[in-house]
Amino acid sequence: MSRSAAPLGEDEIRRRIDAVPHWYHRIEVRPGVVTPGINDSAEVLRHLELPDRCDGLRALDIGVRDGFFSFELERRGAEVVAIDYLDASETGFPVAKELLGSGVEYRVDNVYRLGPADHGEFDIVLFLGVLYHLRDPILALDRIWDVCREGALVVVETQLLDQAFLDPDGSFRALDPALADACLAQFYPGKTLRGDATNYWAPSLSCLRGLLETAGFDVERAAVLGARGIVHARKVVDSERLFYRQLEKGAHAHEAARKSTAGGAPTRPAAQSEAVKRLEHDLAAVRNDKAALETQLAGMRRELAEARGMLEKMAGAQEGGTRRTPLRERGGRAARAARAAARRLLRR
Ligand SMILES: C[S@@+](CC[C@H](N)C(=O)[O-])C[C@H]1O[C@@H](n2cnc3c(N)ncnc32)[C@H](O)[C@@H]1O
Repeated sequence: MSRSAAPLGEDEIRRRIDAVPHWYHRIEVRPGVVTPGINDSAEVLRHLELPDRCDGLRALDIGVRDGFFSFELERRGAEVVAIDYLDASETGFPVAKELLGSGVEYRVDNVYRLGPADHGEFDIVLFLGVLYHLRDPILALDRIWDVCREGALVVVETQLLDQAFLDPDGSFRALDPALADACLAQFYPGKTLRGDATNYWAPSLSCLRGLLETAGFDVERAAVLGARGIVHARKVVDSERLFYRQLEKGAHAHEAARKSTAGGAPTRPAAQSEAVKRLEHDLAAVRNDKAALETQLAGMRRELAEARGMLEKMAGAQEGGTRRTPLRERGGRAARAARAAARRLLRR
């Protein structure tokens, strides 16, 4: 996006910059004129490895503060929406925006309130310097997932534990290397981390990977940089992860399964498929037993019919049948056969 910076004299530019009580970012608003931020934003930018060009992409900058990274993405061609829970007047954003002639949209909003209905969908999301300020990091990642297009790039920069475990005496030390792969996070009650009550959690890099993966992102690259770290991740639509997210959010299991299939995504997680396979196997066994019992029943019916036939013959013989075999003998044979058939039936 082209910018048309306000035609102001240098004194006026300086006056406007000085009128902002606290600058966080160092933004070059004119050649050689940089806002006096406490954060070396250009140095962070070098480590972020953002795409060189973002033409045609929609970007979201969460926790925008004075806007350094939003203005940078805009300069690279993106259409940028920026949110922060601070009113813009508490930041240097309006001054920097005007001096740069930027079109970045600033919205007072909370990461927890992100949703496609209000914010639309994005191709790039910057989540820089915010995660450790959150009481509910996974909830925030879930909300970010909701406003990402499939395959969208999310860049997370945050305080990390690996090189900066906080000891009770206030000093920092590296985690034991044996714990490098453990998903650990340190919680900072009160103002224990740098005297700031808005600092809550610092994950280890492994933990940050785990959080992102749990929320439905695949991690592409990850690095520890002193007390901080940067992760690039992409949104994936994975029905199993969606299922467990919805289950945990309080939805009834069936409702969760239904929601996870919305949009034609594949349904059941593997664990469920296993359970269904076992049930299907049991059902097949029951069907086999039923077929065997039906065969047995048919045999019993045949024997019963034979026994009846013999009894009828016996009765016919008694009424004046042949004289070749004595009536008593023939009657006795039929009666024995009928009794044996009845015994067999009773045994079953
Ligand atoms: C440490 S600054 C980081 C600024 C910028 N993103 C950067 O990395 O240079 C954290 C910013 O996130 C904002 N913030 C903290 N929690 C937030 C939340 N829940 N929703 C939106 N913004 C939040 C703060 O107001 C602040 O401007």
